[in-house]
Amino acid sequence: MAKISTKISDAVDLLKQGEVVGLPTETVYGLAAVINNEQAIRQIFTIKERPLFDPLIIHIANKQDTLNIFKNWNETAEIMSQAFWPGALTIILEKQEHINPLITAGLNTVAVRLPRHKAAQKIISEVGIPLAAPSANKFGRTSPNSAEHVLNEFIDNDLLIIDGGNCEVGIESTIIAPLDTGGKSEIFIYRPGMITKEMIEEEFKRIRRAVTVQYKASGIEEKSKISPGTLENHYMPKKPLILFDTDSKVTAWQNKNPQIKFEILNLDDTPQIIARKLYSELRYLEELNIDYIIARLPRNHDSDTFRAIKDRLLKAAKFKNIE
Ligand code: TXA
Ligand code: MG
Repeated sequence: MAKISTKISDAVDLLKQGEVVGLPTETVYGLAAVINNEQAIRQIFTIKERPLFDPLIIHIANKQDTLNIFKNWNETAEIMSQAFWPGALTIILEKQEHINPLITAGLNTVAVRLPRHKAAQKIISEVGIPLAAPSANKFGRTSPNSAEHVLNEFIDNDLLIIDGGNCEVGIESTIIAPLDTGGKSEIFIYRPGMITKEMIEEEFKRIRRAVTVQYKASGIEEKSKISPGTLENHYMPKKPLILFDTDSKVTAWQNKNPQIKFEILNLDDTPQIIARKLYSELRYLEELNIDYIIARLPRNHDSDTFRAIKDRLLKAAKFKNIE
């Protein structure tokens, strides 16, 4: 049986022994294990039912730890880490040889994040070894924002979950690959998050350095197209979500389907509040006695600040009725 606790020392002991532990972070809860124990890493994939081609993020408590994980560091990575670490930013660079290929799904790059959540920082630094951790949900499912969410997801597993309250950010980190070519910064955003393209551009403007920031599908997403239905269906609630882009389409659908039971996901808020509530709302609604969850994209959903929310909604949706 899974259980919730606030005893950080228990989590530290278990992690040191090579066990998997549920870990709070400010973005979403993670399923953590030390990076130098292959058995422990394998256990993450098993518990999560995650395909081995989907690489994990390594979590550190100290920026110095990157020296022992990445092969090289560059000026763009330095600027980004100074501006946004600790926080909801994941940096991808070439890995050192000793990083287990299970973590990186055989890629020669590795993803690293320094979370801001105090309990996460304390656990990682007391274990003394960085922790690989994907979001603490079964593969393809809605990510968890509280210890209870993780408990519900893994109730049958022998798993300790550290309760660190509700996640402040609420959706997963922004994943970037930072390049530095001849003193010019180039950044690829592989996964949008609440650290937005505009915020990154703003930071470079502030320090007067040229940058180009582009969205790019990571190699992982390309791979998923080879096995369709894997990664494009992500973040999914148990009840099918139908996504619309206008109220009138929602109304038309309601009128055509008077017998169907559904609830509407309310998304009329600032991006920060929506991000904080999104997964909790989905997890609440999926337990109700309904056939469908209905969502309408936020107004302004094409603006940069809504990019990450739109991305998660598009992937969480089973059916889409949008232009
Ligand atoms: O906020 C977060 O990032 C959360 C918390 C727990 O830190 N973690 C998280 O992990 O969202 P996960 O496993 O659900 O998503 C990790 C994603 C992979 O699916 C993949 O898209 C990308 O990170 N990734 C990891 N390593 C990569 C690499 N070397 N190249 C490209 N993408 C990579
Ligand atoms: Mg995930």
